[in-house]
Amino acid sequence: MKNDIRPIGIIGAMQVEIEAVLEAAEEVTVQEHASMKFYSGKLSGIPIVTAQCSPGKVNSALCAQVMADFYDPRMILNIGVAGGVGPGIAIGDVVIATHCVQYDFDCTALGNSRLGEIELPPDDKKTRDFPCDSGISEKLAQKAESLYGHCHRGVIATGDRFVADPEFGKWLYETFGALACEMEGASTAHACLLNGIPCAVLRTISDNGNDEATVDFPTFARESAYKAQKLLAGVIETL
Ligand code: ADE
Repeated sequence: MKNDIRPIGIIGAMQVEIEAVLEAAEEVTVQEHASMKFYSGKLSGIPIVTAQCSPGKVNSALCAQVMADFYDPRMILNIGVAGGVGPGIAIGDVVIATHCVQYDFDCTALGNSRLGEIELPPDDKKTRDFPCDSGISEKLAQKAESLYGHCHRGVIATGDRFVADPEFGKWLYETFGALACEMEGASTAHACLLNGIPCAVLRTISDNGNDEATVDFPTFARESAYKAQKLLAGVIETL
């Protein structure tokens, strides 16, 4: 029974993403932790806690840790936009991560690890692929397919860099098999892994990580945020 009242955490980097969720939410209250606002309420009758973390791996991991410590979420969903870097990934497409990688974590100079491999507490076991919950991700993907007629499933590459270089995007695909790049997914999944919280990363493509990315990104961010809101509001009762 307790499971039913534990909220679903929803983290987005940008204000527009959280605004879209809050517009559809009810009974909203707010608290502040780590200089971030955490909104508790209900979406389609289901308890949620949602916060804007601002861009980047540290901001998103901090936000997920606050949720874990103060709100006991039964899962955390990281939503937002991403740059499409895999073949056939177009602006407006939905990508749901099978797992995420932190492409800019690099201890390869020490000679005993691969790019993106991170030693994790409690025993320094090396991890490169930060898992997403397959059951939650599958439900999100099915809803995306029924609403939008498509959904890509695959690797999302996370790093502290806005990608606006097609060669770099190509490298992310060739090195990690990444379909999309963004700045929060793997770090949210990292925090979730250490706290034993299932997570999913749901992204809408706002640009293709190329020379036009800085123009496309703000243009499509708002549209993408409402796409995610509609999807979440439609599927949240089944999660
Ligand atoms: N989020 C949306 N587009 C992005 C890009 N091109 N690089 C990193 N994060 C993004």
